[in-house]
Amino acid sequence: MAATITGWGHCAPPAILTNDDLATITDTSDEWIVTRTGIRQRHVSHVNSGQLGLVAAQRALAAAGCSPESLDAIVFASVSPELIIPSTASLIQKRLGVADVAAMDLNVGCSGFVYGLAVVNGLIGSGVCRRVLLVAAERLTWYLDWTRRDVAVLFGDGAGACVLEAGDAEEGLLAADLGNDGAAAGALMVPNFGTAMDRIKHDMLDITVDFDGREIFKRAVTGMVRSTHTVLEQTGHGIDDVDVMIPHQANLRIIDAVGQKLGVASDKVFTNVDRYGNTSAASIPIAISEAVEQGRISAGDLLLMPAFGAGLSRGAALLRWGQRTNPVDQSDAALPESSATGLELIAPNAKAMRERNPKN
Ligand code: UT7
Repeated sequence: MAATITGWGHCAPPAILTNDDLATITDTSDEWIVTRTGIRQRHVSHVNSGQLGLVAAQRALAAAGCSPESLDAIVFASVSPELIIPSTASLIQKRLGVADVAAMDLNVGCSGFVYGLAVVNGLIGSGVCRRVLLVAAERLTWYLDWTRRDVAVLFGDGAGACVLEAGDAEEGLLAADLGNDGAAAGALMVPNFGTAMDRIKHDMLDITVDFDGREIFKRAVTGMVRSTHTVLEQTGHGIDDVDVMIPHQANLRIIDAVGQKLGVASDKVFTNVDRYGNTSAASIPIAISEAVEQGRISAGDLLLMPAFGAGLSRGAALLRWGQRTNPVDQSDAALPESSATGLELIAPNAKAMRERNPKN
């Protein structure tokens, strides 16, 4: 009894931050960002990650044609939770108005959705749950030091969600490979957040992303290729059997390198990193939702989802899509309105960081 996706949805906050916008506050250019990453713009959220996740969840529930009360569990994957205590999954439960359901958060960086699929598959396959909502939402712009051009240009905000249920014998999650290299955890880290933070010594501007881009790049390519080979071997499939590859969207050069090493035809690879930047755990479910909306996924398609991120974590999921490619229903859920631009939303933090790091 494998878990199959019966509903999908995503939520992109309205404010856009273009590369040219970033070039007005830090020493970068549209040309550098597009050439090195493929990113042209990213969304900046005016609300927290739980609110983004709630809207994506409501859209996924409508697409699945099921009520929140029919859920057995809510799993929330994120590295930018709304609060540390309680879990953001429990906040989404409250806002959905569900009286009793299992709820938990997963912190696996950009691999969070792939890990989430494996966890949900375990819950469904063991009979503990019948229907699970898997939400991934990130407000990564909250963490960014806008004077650090090597990091600030890469990330964006957004949310994606899927409803998963037991499918028939032929469909659902066929295999997942998960791994983590804790010895390299320092390559991608937010060092002063959590109980490691000295509440007297540190202030909130100390909370930023530390990052070794080149090291992550190399490990991302080898990790995603390795996990893909494992799931293909486990299921007896060849790479040509894959109909659509929906990789974690961090950098177009990483996606191209993974596609080339695996020998995946480029027209089978779905990308939207140009419009979102890296939305960490949310990137794959946002891409799934857009791919279905654009008619890129057909009934019975074999989906390959490789991912890599903080931890340093890696993984790949191989999933046979079910019969549903049209939503059962549409949700009218929406974020609270905001007309602020991306630059306006980040301006107070960017100003404070510039005053603190005038030389960056
Ligand atoms: O999902 C996992 C999360 N991690 C990632 O997504 C990151 C993975 N890594 C990458 O995407 C790439 O390594 C980067 C995009 C971060 C960097 O690309 P790169 O080709 O590895 O560039 P680099 O770090 O080697 O930097 C090349 C130059 C440097 O200048 P010098 O030393 O050659 O004079 C940087 O200072 O580019 C400079 N640079 C920039 N210039 C303009 C770095 N960031 C920028 C920038 N604008 N934003």
